[in-house]
Amino acid sequence: MKIRLDFLQAEPIRVLITGAAGQIAYSLIYMVSSGEVFGKDQPIILHLLDIPPMTKVLEGVCMEINDCALPIVREVVATTNVAEAFKDISAAFLVGAMPRKQGMERKDLLSANVRIFKEQGQALDQHAKKDVKVLVVGNPANTNALICSKYAPSIPKENFSAMTRLDQNRGQSQIAVRCGVPITNVKNVIIWGNHSSTQYPDINHAEVITAGGDKKKVRDAVNDDAWLNDTFISTVQKRGAAVIAARGLSSAMSAAKAASDHMRDWWQGTDGRWVSMGVFSDGSYGTPAEVMYSFPVTCANKKWTIVQGLAIDDFSRQKLDSTGNELMEERGEAIAACEA
Ligand code: NAI
Repeated sequence: MKIRLDFLQAEPIRVLITGAAGQIAYSLIYMVSSGEVFGKDQPIILHLLDIPPMTKVLEGVCMEINDCALPIVREVVATTNVAEAFKDISAAFLVGAMPRKQGMERKDLLSANVRIFKEQGQALDQHAKKDVKVLVVGNPANTNALICSKYAPSIPKENFSAMTRLDQNRGQSQIAVRCGVPITNVKNVIIWGNHSSTQYPDINHAEVITAGGDKKKVRDAVNDDAWLNDTFISTVQKRGAAVIAARGLSSAMSAAKAASDHMRDWWQGTDGRWVSMGVFSDGSYGTPAEVMYSFPVTCANKKWTIVQGLAIDDFSRQKLDSTGNELMEERGEAIAACEA
């Protein structure tokens, strides 16, 4: 009989999912627990955090995790206690956030949410492993990630990221459908900037293997600049609203898949493939430094590196600047809210 010693020997890692009673978590917990993200041979101890009114729902989620009979899940720590949730974690999906309520201004939403992420940054600083990888999904994701890193000074800035992978996946899928090819035939669609309506989905460096088997630039394969420069961009930017209009609920399955793609690629590497991640900007491509700006990156050895040297035309320049300006504005408002 063949014994799989690698599996027996791997130490479990503690993985936190916040907003664990919410709808994204309902899909994400399964993806993480099935071995999609950290590997099928990596045991995990799931930490699940939500707020006290959601305790009962969280209990139900825990019952279902047990009933899934998942081989890599060694233990589940379901809690409403922030310190317990962040204790010794190696990876965090920060999904939980306050939803926008009717009549709420964007500014009020930002200020309520950045305060949650200030508290969670402090908890990371005090309780998490120093090499913890943090993915912020809860909106405004980029600015929440920035605030989280600001209040966790003992953890390197590059260990924080914000999710723009859903936008990348949406863009890649639009191109695949338009070209009539499988999603795996499309690569290097980039999301620049903020996960908001100012984001810039950029296909200028993207390539596709066409149905005929040729490798082409997406711009040449699609051969419709009006569609690419207008319809494509606005479809990706407004996809979240379109899903809400159709489903009556916001994107959850696709958001969970994107969160799992993002963390898997960061953890296991991209083999040279480009992916988009909101990361601490060093000012590359003339973007504002010290905001969480989404760039094309490659990942290896659990580290991301911004893809450099891409040509940026005038159309793109204006879009990179406008989403950067929004991030600077959000940063100012967020810091003011945290210091108030
Ligand atoms: P949801 O409302 O179904 O779930 C959110 C959960 O977070 C709730 O169970 C709530 O009780 C919990 N929560 C609230 N405050 C918390 C706190 N301080 N600590 C721990 N848990 C807390 O929302 P859903 O659909 O799961 O979305 C979660 C977030 O993800 C939202 O902010 C949404 O805007 C964002 N999102 C981001 C995307 C991205 O691409 N970056 C895509 C889709 C959603």
